[in-house]
Amino acid sequence: MSGNSDVPSARIDETVPSVARAYDYMLGGKEHFEVDRNLVDQIAGVFPQPGQLAWVNRRWMTRVVRFMARDLGIDQFLDLGSGLPTTENVHQIVDRHQPNGTVVYVDHDPIVSAHGRALLAETERSWFVRGDLAEPDRLLADETVAGVLDWNRPVGLVHAATLHWVDDSRDPWAVMRRYRELLPAGSVVAASHLYNPGGDDGAKTDDIARRATAAGMPVTFRPRERIESLFDGVELFEPGLVRLAEWWPEGPPSFNDPWDYVFLGAVGRLSLPGT
Ligand SMILES: C[S@@+](CC[C@H](N)C(=O)[O-])C[C@H]1O[C@@H](n2cnc3c(N)ncnc32)[C@H](O)[C@@H]1O
Repeated sequence: MSGNSDVPSARIDETVPSVARAYDYMLGGKEHFEVDRNLVDQIAGVFPQPGQLAWVNRRWMTRVVRFMARDLGIDQFLDLGSGLPTTENVHQIVDRHQPNGTVVYVDHDPIVSAHGRALLAETERSWFVRGDLAEPDRLLADETVAGVLDWNRPVGLVHAATLHWVDDSRDPWAVMRRYRELLPAGSVVAASHLYNPGGDDGAKTDDIARRATAAGMPVTFRPRERIESLFDGVELFEPGLVRLAEWWPEGPPSFNDPWDYVFLGAVGRLSLPGT
């Protein structure tokens, strides 16, 4: 076990909502406080059934990890902003297709850290590191990350519902560029990101972002071009950057949920450095 001990949120604060705990509440988990539930319940006044937001994303993540492990043969994964253990964690999906696969989970939340370590007691091929995903140099130098992953072979980098928590002042575009520079050639990146589609739905995402930020959990729903440029230098697999329900190469997609319209995601292979 390892991790950066001075990452933000080193102690559990029950007075400010936490992304990991609010997300757990949305997924129907048990690790949340009143402050987390209040924020999610407020969001329900803007968009119905906020739990669907989490499930739309979680199902997408299941599909893309399966695609990477089964169809692309990726057998080592770095799951950034992994969240609390729930059903279908990355190592369980990987295990079905790559029984000798390895997974390193990373999150900065202290509750996730505690549960991540407990979960890992059940498995021999996954690890948890507490660290900041917006600091790629530091994270990839971590002794577990550097020691467990084989830097001569492609890595699957999973950024599921993470980068909208990295505000513009921390330059998520530079963060992604740096991962591209540091990861082995042929690595594959998957990312989903909250999306501001403009119009009436955009007004709703602005409202949600205002409420979350006022509660101490700042989030940025970005327009399509800003999300697209996070994938600069990445050759996207079909169907490209799309609403999460549309990222379903094996068909059939479903578009019944209003939350499908405020999340975009893509999977692509990193171009060789300098290309
Ligand atoms: C919405 S949850 C997504 C969990 C999981 N990736 C999924 O898609 O189901 C986002 C997670 O990212 C973590 N997170 C946010 N910012 C982070 C940062 N700068 N460094 C590490 N983890 C971060 C939060 O603690 C939370 O657990």
